Amino acid sequence: MFPEQASTFAPEVDHLLYFLLGVSVFFTVLIFGALFYFAIRYRRRSEQELPAVVHGGMALEILWTVIPFGLTMIMFTWGASIFFRESRPPNNAMNIYVVGKQWMWKLQHQEGQREINELHIPVGVPVKLTMTSEDVIHSFFVPAFRTKQDVVPGRYSTTWFTPTKPGKYHLFCAEYCGTKHSGMIGWVYVMERKDYQDWLSGGRAMGSLAENGEKLFMSLACGNCHHPDGSGRCPSLVGLYNSNVRLSSGNDIHADEAYIRESILQPNAKVVAGFQPVMPTFQGLVTEEGVLQLIEYVKSLSQTPAATPAVNTNAPLTPSATPTPKR
Ligand code: CUA
Repeated sequence: MFPEQASTFAPEVDHLLYFLLGVSVFFTVLIFGALFYFAIRYRRRSEQELPAVVHGGMALEILWTVIPFGLTMIMFTWGASIFFRESRPPNNAMNIYVVGKQWMWKLQHQEGQREINELHIPVGVPVKLTMTSEDVIHSFFVPAFRTKQDVVPGRYSTTWFTPTKPGKYHLFCAEYCGTKHSGMIGWVYVMERKDYQDWLSGGRAMGSLAENGEKLFMSLACGNCHHPDGSGRCPSLVGLYNSNVRLSSGNDIHADEAYIRESILQPNAKVVAGFQPVMPTFQGLVTEEGVLQLIEYVKSLSQTPAATPAVNTNAPLTPSATPTPKR
């Protein structure tokens, strides 16, 4: 009846579901029982029978208003508390990027590993997914984690979970996205931490996301204008991520992933105060995966070495490798 429980959210979601099912079954039985009982007990016994007129009872009215109100408020607060926690990834979560397209899931680890329709993650570690789509709306659904989040073109959506059990779990697309929607499936492999480290070290030659982002940054000649010391025609990107930016409109904006993405694809949407709108758009020149690599590079410019996550390795740059923004 129920998929396996393999994340910290799974038992919580199930308990709420059991409660909803219990309340529904109780009232279904109560209402239909009363319906049949009253239909028989107060049936019309002769052609001439006219029942006495009843003008309602205040106690009954209050009772059947207050009880359902209380029950629905319990459902609301319980559901909202799970929803809020599922919407807020913890700061120490491992960041993995997801790009959906007709009809596959493309995943990138910060260390550089790329996967298609497969996701390898360690057990017991919170994992945050930052997701976007290249074409239409998809939905990232792992029943064993009780996680389902729409993946929308043109914006980033996030979800997170902490897997609790090593194993192999179904990954589905849960939003009808065209002919082969039903084939847009895959597997999530939850591994022991040591196995995950071994798996991770298998693909280091490709370079980390930030390193690939740096190569892309160079090949697109972004550095011609974005000088690190701020002397260029465009703002310095050092320390940009997670900072507050004053715009030429006079407003401030928090420099998150969505802002950096927009500034690459629609540079003139939000121009930094004191600068001219001279940057050309990179729409069509950079794939969504390339944008994510550039974002990781910009993020890396804001990190002191000590602040980088423990899973990051100081793998040497491989100058021979070329940037590979695959479509
Ligand atoms: Cu992608 Cu359905």
